[in-house]
Amino acid sequence: MTHRFDFLVLGSGIAGLSYALRVAEHGTVGIVTKKESVESNTNYAQGGIAAVMSDADSYEQHIQDTLDAGAGLCDRDAVEVVVREGPQRVRELMEIGARFTREQGALHLGREGGHSVNRIVHAADTTGHEVERALLAAVREHPNISVFDYHFAVELITEHHLGQHVTRLRPDIHCYGAYVLDEVNDVVRTFLAKVTLLATGGSGRVYLHTTNPAIATGDGLAMAYRAKARIANMEFVQFHPTSLFHPDADSFLISEAVRGEGAILKNLSGERFMPQYDKRAELAPRDIVARAIDDQLKHRGEPHVWLDISHVDRSHVLEHFPHIHATCLTFGIDITTDPIPVVPAAHYQCGGVQTDLEGRTSLAGLFSCGEVACTGLHGANRLASNSLLEALVFGHRATQPSIDYARGVEWRTDVPDWDDSGTSRPQEWVLISHNRDELRRVMWDYVGIVRSSLRLERAARRTRLLYEETEDFYRRSRVSPELCELRNMIAVAYLIIQSASMRHESRGLHYIVDYPESVEEERRATLV
Ligand code: FAD
Ligand code: SIN
Repeated sequence: MTHRFDFLVLGSGIAGLSYALRVAEHGTVGIVTKKESVESNTNYAQGGIAAVMSDADSYEQHIQDTLDAGAGLCDRDAVEVVVREGPQRVRELMEIGARFTREQGALHLGREGGHSVNRIVHAADTTGHEVERALLAAVREHPNISVFDYHFAVELITEHHLGQHVTRLRPDIHCYGAYVLDEVNDVVRTFLAKVTLLATGGSGRVYLHTTNPAIATGDGLAMAYRAKARIANMEFVQFHPTSLFHPDADSFLISEAVRGEGAILKNLSGERFMPQYDKRAELAPRDIVARAIDDQLKHRGEPHVWLDISHVDRSHVLEHFPHIHATCLTFGIDITTDPIPVVPAAHYQCGGVQTDLEGRTSLAGLFSCGEVACTGLHGANRLASNSLLEALVFGHRATQPSIDYARGVEWRTDVPDWDDSGTSRPQEWVLISHNRDELRRVMWDYVGIVRSSLRLERAARRTRLLYEETEDFYRRSRVSPELCELRNMIAVAYLIIQSASMRHESRGLHYIVDYPESVEEERRATLV
């Protein structure tokens, strides 16, 4: 069965949903999402959305904070548009029903690392859940939008599927939609589209320890790479400094906003250590705090550090962090009286599918926004709470060029059905699960917070083997979400390792012991 939409949206997080609502005024929209629509990184966002919403703040300050965090690699134009257009996009979110925390009638603005003033709009400590709720409610009411839950995008359709030879050097590759696995009926369907938006989010699951939910396997990035789209800056993986250290917690995030409200980091001897690493102490940008914790753990041989907010008024803590408080209690930790054991975990992909300022990728008909995209905003390190903002702004900026593009094209009529002849249902599931576990461990041990050329070489050798085994298995097997995810994670790992190996300096999130300094000649995007 073939579906036809004017606009095909891959992903139902903040980027996909906010874009869908806008283009739906101009045509039919199909949203494809691999689990329930709510399941996304967006849904787990805690801290909030950074935006200039008070007289005590200014665009110039937000721009400067973003540039400072980005360590010389931000695209200034991208920073300008996101900061200047962001507040209006946040107000539009409120107009469709998102409710944010207020104090005496005004928005309560939180503080996070790297921000020079309080500017984080939030809904207590479950901002993403509130944003996702409001967007999904609006999407479900829209007559032009169809949502396909449990539909897994497998490949983008390009000239390659029309039998043409496509290389990365070819300038005129088009995207005509996607092949999508209907997980319930176990059949791959063709979704034809005039415009396709890639909004499949990040890839934190490539690492053993991550704050990201299970969906974050980098599928969109890998599909775009295979379709020969240009990919940028994949070496810049952000590690969040404070995820809960507990065997059953699956890297539950302890928001940076907790430090914004006064929490202090201590080693297991109870000594506060951040002031010796940076004058902004606990509110230094994330790369600095994560590396400081890593340094403490390695030098002291300890499994975690403490994050302590027990000195802050109990009612204040309960009011601002009800979700974190309740979740920690289930692990026997009362954050109003006890310090919280924390470690860093992979959190955010700063690089991605390269776009221009209107969300266009290097493939005609393919737009991208949200975490899967690299717009130039984050440079070498993302400023806290700038990603929900970026998704909103680019979800809006990509709208008009998408509408214009759709007006000038028709659906392809010559796209063949998915061909799975010669394949069979995989029997050896252990091959998938073992390779997945091995990949995640290799990435954690060899391509983590602190890197070295030797470790990158080892990681490259190991992932090459995993790639060969998995491709061989894939050629013989019917597609399944598990197999596709493994294949995609290996592609993402390759891109991270490759990009990290190409950068002969340390900058922002990429710290490599062989090249510990930043070098002016290396101050450019890494393109693959
Ligand atoms: P997502 O919200 O991740 O959505 C991606 C969608 O694509 C999902 O619906 C997924 O199921 C779907 N998908 C993926 N692959 C496929 C496929 N093959 N086929 C079909 N569908 C697919 N940022 C902030 O700015 N502020 C915060 O406070 C904040 N807190 C965070 C807390 C946590 C715990 C985490 C993990 C992240 C946080 N972030 C925060 C980052 C931010 O949440 C994400 O960058 C942002 O939500 C990404 O939005 P997105 O729409 O691009 O992707
Ligand atoms: C957090 O709440 O600490 C996460 C904020 C972010 O990732 O921007």
